[in-house]
Amino acid sequence: MKPPIILINYKAYENSYGEKGVEISKKIEKVSKDYGVPIIISVPATMIYKLSQILEIPVYAQHVDALRHGAHTGAILPEMIKDAGAKGSLLNHSERKIRLDEIHEAVTRIRDLGLESVVCADSYELVHPLALLRPNAILIEPPELIGSGRAVSKEKPEVITRAVNEIKKVEGVYLIAGAGITTGEDVYKAIELGADGIGVASAVMKSSTPEKIVEDFVINVLKAIDKKK
Ligand code: G3P
Repeated sequence: MKPPIILINYKAYENSYGEKGVEISKKIEKVSKDYGVPIIISVPATMIYKLSQILEIPVYAQHVDALRHGAHTGAILPEMIKDAGAKGSLLNHSERKIRLDEIHEAVTRIRDLGLESVVCADSYELVHPLALLRPNAILIEPPELIGSGRAVSKEKPEVITRAVNEIKKVEGVYLIAGAGITTGEDVYKAIELGADGIGVASAVMKSSTPEKIVEDFVINVLKAIDKKK
């Protein structure tokens, strides 16, 4: 993983699986290839194998259970997502929280398997402690802005700047910002504030032209990076 990081979380939207899931993924991959910018897609567990077979962009799980092989009905282990073709996993999303010891165990096991992890944090105060667990990146998302259409970079820019200061305390962990990101301008602002990338869901998944939204995001990521040089 290296910046800029664009992570699209499919959640359980109706186009997150099946033929629609394949269709939107191909569109996202095309934008990624056209601009030479990697885009991570975080997909329902049932789609990991199918999408990994047909795509070159990194496919992530949305969650894994920090359990070992054995009698755990319904569990999705790090080994299982690797076998299905995932390059990594989101962990501790606001909509799928896990305990601190579970985050630690999952991050460690994921790393040992040669996969990547992105750990979500609800507040900037949690960025440093979670970064000490050494995931590849922390995704800062104020829960009240998730799915709101009101971008963290505009509504709560201080959350990003404080999170950026916190992540600097740990070497080698990136900071991604998400929640309510809707426009290219929101994306530009997040990068300008110091984020290494953005996480997004509804603006892409609920759009009738997701490829246009993603393209606008990519253009603005590149523009913001260029401006910083
Ligand atoms: O994981 C990213 C997600 O929680 C952000 O959601 O809908 O506000 O872009 P959304």
